[in-house]
Amino acid sequence: MSVRGGIVVLDFGSQYTQLIARRIREMEVFSALLPCTAPVEEVRKLAPRGLILSGGPNSVYDPASPKCDPQVLHLGVPVLGICYGMQWMAHTLGGKVQRAERREYGRADLKILGGSALLDGLPKELKIWNSHGDHVVAVPDGFRICGRTENAVAAIEDDSRKLFAVEFHPEVRHTDRGEDILRNFVFGICEARANWSRSAFIAETVEAVRHRVGDARALCALSGGVDSAVAAVLVQRAIGDRLTNVFVDTGLLRQNEFRDTLALLRDRLGLVVIGVNAAARFLAQLQGISDPEEKRRRIGREFIAVFAEEARSLGEIPFLVQGTLYPDVIESVSVKGPSQTIKTHHNVGGLPSVMPFQLIEPLRDLFKDEVRQIGRELGLPKEMLTKHPFPGPGLAVRLLGEITEERLATLRAADAIVVEEIHRAGLYGKTWQAFAVLLPVCSVGVMGDERHYGFTVAVRVVESEDAMTADWSRLPGDVLERMSTRIVNEVRDVTRVVYDISSKPPSTIEWE
Ligand code: XMP
Repeated sequence: MSVRGGIVVLDFGSQYTQLIARRIREMEVFSALLPCTAPVEEVRKLAPRGLILSGGPNSVYDPASPKCDPQVLHLGVPVLGICYGMQWMAHTLGGKVQRAERREYGRADLKILGGSALLDGLPKELKIWNSHGDHVVAVPDGFRICGRTENAVAAIEDDSRKLFAVEFHPEVRHTDRGEDILRNFVFGICEARANWSRSAFIAETVEAVRHRVGDARALCALSGGVDSAVAAVLVQRAIGDRLTNVFVDTGLLRQNEFRDTLALLRDRLGLVVIGVNAAARFLAQLQGISDPEEKRRRIGREFIAVFAEEARSLGEIPFLVQGTLYPDVIESVSVKGPSQTIKTHHNVGGLPSVMPFQLIEPLRDLFKDEVRQIGRELGLPKEMLTKHPFPGPGLAVRLLGEITEERLATLRAADAIVVEEIHRAGLYGKTWQAFAVLLPVCSVGVMGDERHYGFTVAVRVVESEDAMTADWSRLPGDVLERMSTRIVNEVRDVTRVVYDISSKPPSTIEWE
């Protein structure tokens, strides 16, 4: 899938690599991400207007540090090195890189020395975001220093060879005018054309899926969320009713979710969907289990069992469609390059290891908001597009301690109130997720004239751009008050409501 003439990003393993590609797509310029180890031929095939070398966690002096073929610096197109990309470029071209005493992390002030095409049109001083260990202390021949921070050479360029590099991260929002720096590179220096759009993505994806699947059939596990629905609609456009979808009621979904979503998927999206009610099976598997990882394992295992039974009854189907997104990929495994693994709990790729499917993952390079935009372009209904993300293991990771039918009912009722009040306050579209968590903590309440020993509900409402970082929502007091009063009055056995004011990092969005 490619539009020639875009920007190729070579991944040296930074958590921010995909953000670079995303910022470029936001400029409607095609951008492809390749591992830094990709052969130069593969880069050439994409006929890029320019290259970006990403950051990475290593030092150029580590024996195991990732390396590019130095030929990428001589392809005749402009190159921008970011952070490790800068250090690798400087080191490779004969400059000097020094290990810093301590990592420079967070905000710093950039002083721009002028005359730089990359930093053109920017003020003389900018707040920038750093995350690096080494410094360039001597620039290679032909290079000029164009910007400094207090501690380091922060921007260099060789105008005649069109090589540019910055020590900081223009792709993160914390860098002031970072987008303008990338724009200067993409449009001013590389003269790329803005010819990549959502409709181009849809057309290319549909074509690629049609080509790959041929006359065969495909199966898709719908979760009820926007990702799998968008993936299914894209594949349906390519192969029509040769796509069969399965939507499993694990008994861990939210109030009325199975019924309402099934109707929406079938009636409004026209998908062929088999609805499987497996709630009792999941509950039986979870009986007596409190350990979060064990819950996830059992749910994953049961899901595979249910899904495999359905698949077998449908006959020979070689392809499996999954709505995997980029954050799922980097938080699970390092796939495209050396991007570092953060955690392994996400259930990406759980199915194929035990089933003989070839995977179709049309959204794997995208962030959630990009998927929502693609969904809008495909005509998905608003209630599906704006739906908050919901974890694969469902309410099981929001019900701490043992899962019982009774406690699930309590959580579902409290959760429905949280969501209803967020809608009523007009905040649903402005928040990333809003939900209730049932804690296995009892405390004393006074109800009527009686003392009552009941459970605690934590309300979690966060704002985020991509779930990789999140901040708790500063909800108005009256909204919090209505939630709290209603939960205590309307939900049996709950005597206390608390509001979670932790951000990610260091906390996570979910409690388990
Ligand atoms: P955390 O809790 O890691 O969540 O900050 C980040 C985002 O991922 C969702 N999430 C999951 N999604 N399977 C999923 O499909 C999971 O096991 C899982 N755990 C967390 C979470 O809701 C949030 O949007």
